[in-house]
Amino acid sequence: MASFKLGLFLFPLLFVFLLLSIPVHCGDEEESVFKGINSYRQVQKLTPFNKVSKASCLAEEVAEELEDEPCENVNQYAPSLTSSPKIPNLQKHINKCDININTTTDGVVLPVCVSKLEPTIVLSNYTHTDRYSRYLNNSVYTGAGLGSEHDWMVLVLTTNTTTGSFSASSDAAGAISLLVNVTTLMGFLIMGLFM
Ligand SMILES: *[C@@H]1O[C@H](CO)[C@@H](O)[C@H](O)[C@H]1NC(C)=O
Ligand SMILES: *[C@@H]1O[C@H](CO)[C@@H](O)[C@H](O)[C@H]1NC(C)=O
Ligand SMILES: *[C@@H]1O[C@H](CO)[C@@H](O)[C@H](O)[C@H]1NC(C)=O
Ligand SMILES: *[C@@H]1O[C@H](CO)[C@@H](O)[C@H](O)[C@H]1NC(C)=O
Repeated sequence: MASFKLGLFLFPLLFVFLLLSIPVHCGDEEESVFKGINSYRQVQKLTPFNKVSKASCLAEEVAEELEDEPCENVNQYAPSLTSSPKIPNLQKHINKCDININTTTDGVVLPVCVSKLEPTIVLSNYTHTDRYSRYLNNSVYTGAGLGSEHDWMVLVLTTNTTTGSFSASSDAAGAISLLVNVTTLMGFLIMGLFM
């Protein structure tokens, strides 16, 4: 009986462990596109982009939002976070990443859609189209985050000014979201004990 309960206790732990250890399958494409973008920056004599984790979080959220859209829709949304048409549920995604909306107004969200996310084509969509290269050419942008899902990759660019830094919404919100995560985890463990 004890070992049965122990098994039920270990099962959710194993589940959590598996969740954490599933490899991020798009990581390689993202890494090579990020490097390519920073090589482009260097050729333009601009400082390379810093990786900004909140920008990566938002890019990932937006990629998930767009993943089922047909590629033809790729130019349908305004790159700027303040002009329309906006990416659906943008505010929700910003909140989910715990970003203060006031620190996003100067940022841009640049989605591309390329079959199998072939890195050289993704990269040339960023560096060889007027629509996007003017952002990559611009010294105003100092930070970046990439996210991808299916055929979609999303680049979020940030500035180092207060209106584009993608800063945390507040300590309180951060603490609450941590608390929620811990509570969820505890829930799993307790469920395992009483199942
Ligand atoms: C954002 O700016 C508005 C207007 O200045 C202000 O009312 C609001 O409280 C700010 N939001 C945050 C999260 O700081
Ligand atoms: C951008 O991606 C599309 C879709 O894969 C492709 O057809 C197009 O040639 C690319 N454009 C550039 C400039 O790389
Ligand atoms: C970005 O810079 C490159 C090299 O200076 C130039 O060829 C390209 O036209 C620029 N793109 C835009 C949109 O200004
Ligand atoms: C923003 O970045 C630019 C270029 O990297 C740098 O010159 C400037 O000092 C930075 N400003 C702040 C407030 O960090």
